[in-house]
Amino acid sequence: MTEPRLLIVSNRLPVTVRTDRGELSVAPSAGGLATGLRGPHTKSDGLWIGWPGDVSHLDDAQRGSLDEKLEAMRAVPLYLEPEEVTRYYEGYSNGVLWPLFHYMVDRIPLVSTDWEVYQHVNQRFADLTVARYRPGDTIWVQDYQLMLVPGMIRERLPSATIGFFLHIPFPSSEAFRILPRREEILTGLLGADLIGFHTFSYLDQFARSMMRILGLDVEVDRLRYAGRNVRLGVFPMGIDAAHFSQVATSPELATEADAIRQRAAPCRILLGVDRMDYTKGLTRRLLAYERLLARSPELHGKVRLVQVAVPSRTEVDAYVTLKTQVDELVGKINGEYGTIDWTPIHYLYRSIPESQLIALYRAADVMLVTPVRDGLNLVAKEFIASRVDDDGVLILSELAGAASELGEALRVNPYDIDATAGAMAQALALAPEERRIRMSALRRRIMTHDVHRWVSLFLGTLERSATQREPAGAR
Ligand code: F6P
Repeated sequence: MTEPRLLIVSNRLPVTVRTDRGELSVAPSAGGLATGLRGPHTKSDGLWIGWPGDVSHLDDAQRGSLDEKLEAMRAVPLYLEPEEVTRYYEGYSNGVLWPLFHYMVDRIPLVSTDWEVYQHVNQRFADLTVARYRPGDTIWVQDYQLMLVPGMIRERLPSATIGFFLHIPFPSSEAFRILPRREEILTGLLGADLIGFHTFSYLDQFARSMMRILGLDVEVDRLRYAGRNVRLGVFPMGIDAAHFSQVATSPELATEADAIRQRAAPCRILLGVDRMDYTKGLTRRLLAYERLLARSPELHGKVRLVQVAVPSRTEVDAYVTLKTQVDELVGKINGEYGTIDWTPIHYLYRSIPESQLIALYRAADVMLVTPVRDGLNLVAKEFIASRVDDDGVLILSELAGAASELGEALRVNPYDIDATAGAMAQALALAPEERRIRMSALRRRIMTHDVHRWVSLFLGTLERSATQREPAGAR
């Protein structure tokens, strides 16, 4: 008798292929979804189905060795053809859905012809999942790249237990309705037994779209569709808080954090860590920092912004443009305010190893998480979990999903440059006792509401929802 397993299905696997001077390696993928679910996947004995990144440059031997590496991680690769990367991943997922769901409607191309490829790749994910499915398995589909997959699997496996979680915001029905394929997207999602969101507001907007676009009534958190019950739920994602806390507590890491602080002295450190994405509010954050410097000459030589920007979706035009803007703005501010002894912004365009990241979190005086729109934002939570010293101040955008949970952060409207500059000044001036009170309250919440709780709440609700589903014959 084989055990039921969890099949995680996401666009990207938690590892992405890299080749450096002919040497093949698999590196951890960036982004909240991969970092958040990596731990639960390792602990379970299930499979993770997804794309391992571009492998077109690998020879047969390297492909074989990659397959072996992935199998050892219980990762099932779905290799995308170059045209699928261009049209499903870059074109429809990140050229249409991503900006729309983040309310950046003017970034959507005037004409998009990528829908068919989005549909085709969703079908490939569904087919691979069905091929690896064993009766009793739980299927958990992730995020906006795969919104048709639940419906496609349901057609083939009418009685399977299928969950779906959206990691990005669900926009207002007024924004969502502009999508020409809105009905297909909504009915694709309705193949799931449970659809999860980070916040109540996203669930509410989804329910309004159900009503306005499909004419379906949602009763609080459930609806009937095609003779089945579909549950909706709010599950703000957590992180592996104990892991961050444990690494942050190690003596080596404390030494590294001290070294970072000493190298920066007499500067206090403001820190930003983001994927290089236009939703993360990097340009506005830089402008706010510039405003801070302009109106507080006494801070010159006394503060430094360390900005880590992790390369992301580098083939999508909007991301290329953003990088140029950020490069130029950093150069402009450093050129204008820097001196021989002081560089106001220390800018790293790369991903950095986890231990270095946690050392930076520990060394920072102020953490800047100021997206102009964000499904949740796990960086804010990683920072809190790493502050085992109960110190450090979090400045958090009210437009990040995490804002509804993290009330003790200093909250800002990232579109208000003046107010954001003001929050930076306020954070730097906060008394140690006030910092401790705020951070210890944040830590209590983060440490208990972690990713393991998130997984078990979602899967527990999914199991209950699936058992309430009517038998296939009732449809
Ligand atoms: O939820 C946000 C998200 O799109 C995840 O699906 C993904 O893991 C992350 O951002 C990084 O994006 P990408 O896989 O496109 O690099």
